[in-house]
Amino acid sequence: MSHAPVESTAPGKVILFGEHAVVYGEPAIAVPVSQVEAGATVEPAPSGSGLTLVAADLEQRFTLAEAPPRDPLALAARLTLDRLSAPAPDATIVIRSSIPIASGLGSGAAVSTAIVRALAEFIGRPLSPAQVSELVFEVEKIHHGTPSGIDNTVIAYERPVYFICTEASGPHLVSVGAPFTLVIADTGLPSPTKRLVSRVRAGWKRDRARYEALFEDIGEIAREAYRKIETGDVEGLGPLMDKNHALLIQLGVSSPTLDRLVDAAREAGALGAKLSGAGQGGNMLALVDVEDAQNATEVLKEAGAAHVIRTTVA
Ligand code: MEV
Repeated sequence: MSHAPVESTAPGKVILFGEHAVVYGEPAIAVPVSQVEAGATVEPAPSGSGLTLVAADLEQRFTLAEAPPRDPLALAARLTLDRLSAPAPDATIVIRSSIPIASGLGSGAAVSTAIVRALAEFIGRPLSPAQVSELVFEVEKIHHGTPSGIDNTVIAYERPVYFICTEASGPHLVSVGAPFTLVIADTGLPSPTKRLVSRVRAGWKRDRARYEALFEDIGEIAREAYRKIETGDVEGLGPLMDKNHALLIQLGVSSPTLDRLVDAAREAGALGAKLSGAGQGGNMLALVDVEDAQNATEVLKEAGAAHVIRTTVA
């Protein structure tokens, strides 16, 4: 067992295409966002003290032994120890994150990923992205009810992914044919994934034919977008984002605030724009020519965005 301190990080993420429909077996595309990240540092502690978790930003501190059974931080640690058949080490894990909570940027999955990676490495038995993703998915179920698994996958692999939840063989890692620039704007309002996924599920139960047609149309957009990303047809992605947003409105997961930011981005010359993640609040994203990114950022702030991030997918 290693006794040197270990630090691991994990990026945020955005879904480019296919949110919600992905829960029903349609493909979706997500990319890591390294401008925000979660981190976990594991340091040795005195013998017999057990494992202590410190959530630095939330001012929480508890030992693994006294943690509530459904606490997501403790669950990430417990699952890692179980996976490695290792006893809890005498150590302190300090967890921090710059990813806004409940904003669609994958903060829960990133925090869990950082914990799993750091603890496994501290124990001296690092896990593969597939193994990390599998453990984080178990934690995601606590956060999100019936998640598709896309958040844990894109964050654990740290690569753009084309993801279909029913494919046991794992995600397709996307080769990006030509780099493209995204401006990601936060409404500042929460995006409660669990509630929104349940709302869509209730709608689907009421009117399966209508919802399944919407899911299929979204899936078709994701399939087309995958081809365009791989062939480097960046311009062709814009209209697909617009169409995807229109379908998300029909699913009932957009909001006046998201629509306002999406419209503002389009008026600022974005090639396309849509909400990203579960919806209602959280983030929207706009595809822009790199030279228009600064202007789009300013326009989105003027339109009320709480934070704006720029990232290049390559
Ligand atoms: C949340 O980031 C994306 C959703 O599609 C839910 C999921 O895939 O688990 C809304």
